[in-house]
Amino acid sequence: MRQRLAVGNWKMHGSLPENQALLDKVAAASGRLSRAIAAVCVPFPYLAQARSALAGSKAAWGGQNVSQYPKGAFTGEVSAGMLREFGCRYVIVGHSERRQLFGEDDAAVALKAEAVLAQGMVPIVCVGETLAERERGVTEEVVGRQLGAVADRLGTEGLKASVLAYEPVWAIGTGKTATPDQAQAVHAYLRDALALRDRSVAAAMPILYGGSVKAANAVELFGRQDVDGGLIGGASLVAEEFISICQAADG
Ligand code: PGA
Repeated sequence: MRQRLAVGNWKMHGSLPENQALLDKVAAASGRLSRAIAAVCVPFPYLAQARSALAGSKAAWGGQNVSQYPKGAFTGEVSAGMLREFGCRYVIVGHSERRQLFGEDDAAVALKAEAVLAQGMVPIVCVGETLAERERGVTEEVVGRQLGAVADRLGTEGLKASVLAYEPVWAIGTGKTATPDQAQAVHAYLRDALALRDRSVAAAMPILYGGSVKAANAVELFGRQDVDGGLIGGASLVAEEFISICQAADG
């Protein structure tokens, strides 16, 4: 059976006191999940706080980005080794906000995923089309290209230790959610594309859906055959919402 996951992507939100209340609730709720993992990807300065609040619970934590380089004169960057020192299990790579606002291309995303794996952590590799791309009918081409760049670099061994997230750009932070049918169709396409490389990798790969997931739509989305949980932005900042979403991923 594939791993089920609910991963909060806090983006650039939080403060020490707000985080503490949220993390304590996530820690407590994680123990009530039977098969899904709850995780939060927090801003770098809050990793130490996440570690002390969640260590000893069943919840995991991680980063939202990473440098493709192991060390050096790269002002403002954070390496995978540094994230590992703070106990991160997951690192989001290739989020559309990184791609669109910070110029990350497919090659950089692939190198970042490789850097995460080299430190024994799990990259959560994001793919997704813009509204214009969906309207032009090139969704599969776009997500196929994004996945292909990472898969070529990681190979089957690397893919086995990775998680994939489908995040249609038009659904992120917009309140518009892909319908369960739309999500399922792209997830199935991604799994088929993986199967062309390796059938067992495809069968085992958790593919998360992201884009305005809420407690109110999570059960239906996560009920689809190829949707193994979610990557949750806005709703992950509200404890009750996020915990309900974790329970939906638990099935
Ligand atoms: P959202 O963000 O849930 O706020 O739409 C999802 C994401 O960007 O990971």
